[in-house]
Amino acid sequence: MRQAGRYLPEYRKIREKHDIISICEDPELCAKVSALPVEVLNVDAAIMFADIMLPLEGMNVEFEIKEGIGPVIKKPIRNAQSVRALIDFDPKADVPYVLSAIELTKKRLDGRAPLIGFCGAPFTLASYLIEGGPSRDFSNTKALMYREPKAWDLLMEKLTDAMTSYLQAQIQAGVDAVQLFDSWIGCLNSQDYDQYVLPHSRRIFRALESTAVPKIHFGTGTSDLLESMKRAGGDVIGVDWRIPIDVAWQRLGHDMAIQGNLDPAVLLADSDLVKSRAENILKRVGSTPGHIFNLGHGMLPDTNPQSVIDLVEFVHGATQKRLEVQVK
Ligand code: CP3
Repeated sequence: MRQAGRYLPEYRKIREKHDIISICEDPELCAKVSALPVEVLNVDAAIMFADIMLPLEGMNVEFEIKEGIGPVIKKPIRNAQSVRALIDFDPKADVPYVLSAIELTKKRLDGRAPLIGFCGAPFTLASYLIEGGPSRDFSNTKALMYREPKAWDLLMEKLTDAMTSYLQAQIQAGVDAVQLFDSWIGCLNSQDYDQYVLPHSRRIFRALESTAVPKIHFGTGTSDLLESMKRAGGDVIGVDWRIPIDVAWQRLGHDMAIQGNLDPAVLLADSDLVKSRAENILKRVGSTPGHIFNLGHGMLPDTNPQSVIDLVEFVHGATQKRLEVQVK
């Protein structure tokens, strides 16, 4: 989750000369950045360096990624006509650089860690397209959803088709797992999620059912949505820190895996507090198999890389001990 981001000096150095899109468009550089967190932090998986907005360029959407703000859309979508103007996305023609970067990153990692591919979920992408940028209340998104349900469905269908082929192409190029980021879905209640979002996200997971790679379904603020997200699909549900992990897992059922749920802001604290919060998560999951230790959302720019290195070492040590006790 934006793990290669601004807090890493090695990344910042590269960013002095290249903007984020040009890093993505240069497969060699992109592979280097994608592998950085594994090399520097010793985390157990790498995530492709890309952005959820990249494929939208192929659909005729003009955008910029502004520092400290995030994606900004030139002409936000506010009516049926602009939804109809979105063209079909073809991963091989529109983002060949992502697919080449996947191959190069796999080579660079050389089996040291698996590689996660990803895309934005239809709702989160739609929210950027409609709001034109980040939003506090998602009022334009909800207005289109409630007032023009046909235009909403068409937009969600087009994004669903695009993201399905995008993930399929990433799997074909060699990623070991995929993650669907529905980062802003927590602004909906479960009734609206079930009606306006679930059928679309479910269609993506269904289309990928025959592929062997694990699928991670991530959202934030999802306390009211966990059961619905499970019904939409995924082998792993990613949760933030606003719900105790054992409570979330109980509700999801232990037949599926869970990922999260350290607050990234905890990494701004001193090392004793970081350890105690990490320990608390590990205690709550106990020996139940299927927990992926992770942050509940993206790394904050002010994070000290050493805190992350220490956390990774602590979690490796603690989980290794747990495994040894289980084996005995
Ligand atoms: O770990 C990684 O660095 C992998 C690459 C990655 C980026 N974006 C690169 C990036 C990933 C996995 C994303 C996903 C992404 N992008 C999401 C879903 C995950 C999440 O965090 O919720 C979302 C919502 C976006 C849209 C986006 N792009 C946001 C909200 C921002 C942050 C704006 C800011 O500056 O605070 C971006 C910019 C961005 N994408 C950065 C990176 C490394 C940071 C800015 C930069 O380096 O220029």
